[in-house]
Amino acid sequence: MIKKAWYAVGPSDFIVQEPRKVTVHGMDYVMYRDESGEVHAFDAYCPHRGCDLALGTVENEEMICPFHGWRFNAEGNCTRVPANRDGSKPPGGSDLIAYYTLEKAGLIWVYTYPQKHLNDKPELSIFPEIESEGWIFAPLQATWNAHFTRTVESVLDISHLPFVHPDTSGTDIIPVVEGPEFSVSDNHIRIHPTPFAPAHPMEPIHPPIGIEERTEMELVFPNKWIIGTRWVMALGCVHF
Ligand code: FES
Repeated sequence: MIKKAWYAVGPSDFIVQEPRKVTVHGMDYVMYRDESGEVHAFDAYCPHRGCDLALGTVENEEMICPFHGWRFNAEGNCTRVPANRDGSKPPGGSDLIAYYTLEKAGLIWVYTYPQKHLNDKPELSIFPEIESEGWIFAPLQATWNAHFTRTVESVLDISHLPFVHPDTSGTDIIPVVEGPEFSVSDNHIRIHPTPFAPAHPMEPIHPPIGIEERTEMELVFPNKWIIGTRWVMALGCVHF
């Protein structure tokens, strides 16, 4: 749905040398890690006969299709068609579509727009807390059977807390929401419910020195958010 964006596909150890298929907004990608540790991402299916490349192997930093043995280098270019004589040029249309990847904050990210249509690798901005020594990073992956937009919308919805999460973020809070105040700038939305009830879990959390105190929720369009509560910073990054 929103192709020009970075999406986290999993923690760093999610992608190893063996090719692995990942699905982001309904598109399948094949990803692998080369011997130097760099992660690569391509369309998941072979341009020859559509074989699932996640069933293939990686050898000398090249991915090999398991059906007829075509080989693809780290840029996605087809380097060898075994059925043709050695030294012959691969036919037109035999290259894979490549995508930018990044490893940041203990996560692997893919930018789901073809590299060849972008001038440069896009910047990935993340919340500073995720890489701060003062915080413990505890990745959790879960599948929600819901549309992308409903997922983002629900995490910005303050008034459901005492009813859906009475034992955690909704403990002992009154259901009245004053405001909430919010601000919008560029691709950020910040939401600050005021005034907080005396025991509201979004009261100041006294974060580590050097880290901005948050008593609010912030969404970075289209898919990253942070929820500041008394006990924990919940960071989310969704795809579908
Ligand atoms: S389907 Fe991949 S090489 Fe033939």
